[in-house]
Amino acid sequence: MSEIPIIGLNKQYESIRPELDGAIARVLEKGSFILGAEVAAFEREFAEFCGVSNAVGVASGTEALQLALMACGVGENDEVIAPAHTAVATIAAVEATGAHPRLVDIDLARYTLDPDLLQQVATQRTRAIIPVHLYGCPADMRSILEFTGRKNIFVVEDCSQAHGASYENLKVGSLSEIAAFSFYPTKNLGAFGDGGAVVTNDPALAERVRLLRQYGWKEHYISSIKGINSRLDELQAAILRVKLNYLDQWNVRRRKLADLYFELLADTELVLPLQPEDSKHVFHQFVVRHPQRDALRAFLKEQGIQTLIHYPAPVHLQPAYANLGYLIGSFPNTELASREILSLPLYPELNEQQIVLICEKIKAFLKSFR
Ligand SMILES: Cc1ncc(COP(=O)(O)O)c(C=O)c1O
Repeated sequence: MSEIPIIGLNKQYESIRPELDGAIARVLEKGSFILGAEVAAFEREFAEFCGVSNAVGVASGTEALQLALMACGVGENDEVIAPAHTAVATIAAVEATGAHPRLVDIDLARYTLDPDLLQQVATQRTRAIIPVHLYGCPADMRSILEFTGRKNIFVVEDCSQAHGASYENLKVGSLSEIAAFSFYPTKNLGAFGDGGAVVTNDPALAERVRLLRQYGWKEHYISSIKGINSRLDELQAAILRVKLNYLDQWNVRRRKLADLYFELLADTELVLPLQPEDSKHVFHQFVVRHPQRDALRAFLKEQGIQTLIHYPAPVHLQPAYANLGYLIGSFPNTELASREILSLPLYPELNEQQIVLICEKIKAFLKSFR
């Protein structure tokens, strides 16, 4: 029995190997490794892809969020609203600015921040809201932007799981003042190491991120403001430039494979992902829900099918975040999701037969369980 892994990055490399090897060799032969021509070209190309005027390459998605918040002036004594159901990175980035994270529960259909709850958590100190387009599904941006309206609150999209997704025909990253992307290797657009980007239509915000990512240097060795070191490197930029050319076709493939899951799992008890009519989902993850999730996961593992849980422990219940002061029961939808969600394999290199097999095994499990 051949295993079905949760990700196929080696296969992806094989599929475009000559181009990637060429890009890597080009950087090594040139001998320039930090903030050079590859980064500048990638920033232009990625901005164009997102439909914005500026992209700034940085060292990770976490730091992209941190720098985006810092560029908006977020710091100590400020509060930033974020969903309770997200990668811990979202909250770590808020705390890295010195600001205090205020969490809100999610809408269980989209798995994204529930805008109806914003009014309850916003205070005079709220400076920013981070909608996370989780699993490739855009958050309900219209309601979030209606809420922030004329208030002095920045909206910082976390697009780390949604490269190429769109909402009302606009790409994520272009829907608010400023946005952050991760290029962690497993993302829809992934580097061969860490990487990230901040995108914005506001040239002043972009300029601030450019300064902040390198010690606040306007000119070399002279810090005009206090910054950090968070630079995208030339090797990663060259790799990302190659992969960016394939991102649309990879996302099409993800959606096609997701359609097959929808078709084959339609009449089961699993809760399947929502594809909101206002959005184009890019299925970074295909997340299903079932009360017997752990048993289903163990069964699939025995059958050689790898799955993951994004995420098994909500941020507010993790030991390091006890300081936020939340208890069990604070965010019922997030807590229910963390008990029942399961990410099935979904990536462009997977084939249809593998999806058919996964669905057969799931159905066998569900039948035995009835
Ligand atoms: C939703 C979300 N936000 C932020 C991040 C942080 O990105 P990185 O791992 O590149 O720091 C990730 C990825 O891990 C993520 O999934």
